[in-house]
Amino acid sequence: MNQFFKSVVVIVASLALVSCDTPVTDCENDVSLPLQIQINDCVESPCELERGSTVVMNVTFRAPHYVEGLTPEVIATALGVNVTYPLSETNGCNSLLNIRCPIDAEEIIRYQLQMPILAFYPTISLQIKFTIYDENSNGLMCFVVAARVVLAS
Ligand SMILES: *[C@@H]1O[C@H](CO)[C@@H](O)[C@H](O)[C@H]1NC(C)=O
Ligand SMILES: *[C@@H]1O[C@H](CO)[C@@H](O)[C@H](O)[C@H]1NC(C)=O
Repeated sequence: MNQFFKSVVVIVASLALVSCDTPVTDCENDVSLPLQIQINDCVESPCELERGSTVVMNVTFRAPHYVEGLTPEVIATALGVNVTYPLSETNGCNSLLNIRCPIDAEEIIRYQLQMPILAFYPTISLQIKFTIYDENSNGLMCFVVAARVVLAS
């Protein structure tokens, strides 16, 4: 198999993989996008976040280097205002599905973030920026997802 054909196979395979994931954009900085993102069953933008529910985000990313600690940060932007979402679990090492801290370079990390959408949240469109930092405040992965808070059905 020549190199070109191999590349085409890889690209087609990754498109197939991406198509059942949640659509996101990068953070316009040099922090990498994760390999895979699943937010509830959301496959099209904007993701609908039902009031009174808990949103589950599963994120898969590769450790760019040896990591001892992980800290998640969620910033919601609506009407030009940035608000840091108050996460109940601030130690990211407690949110890992497949591995424990410390993490070796190149390990694949599966991370689960849970975000309760409280009943008093306004039903608005917003952007959610999710970053995971290491113990030295370096970004390990980052993405932005468009979302809309909707009434419980
Ligand atoms: C997240 O991962 C957990 C554990 O693998 C799985 O049970 C759950 O269905 C996943 N949720 C989403 C939204 O992908
Ligand atoms: C909100 O955050 C973005 C980057 O995430 C930044 O570009 C923008 O200036 C911030 N806006 C305010 C009002 O702080």
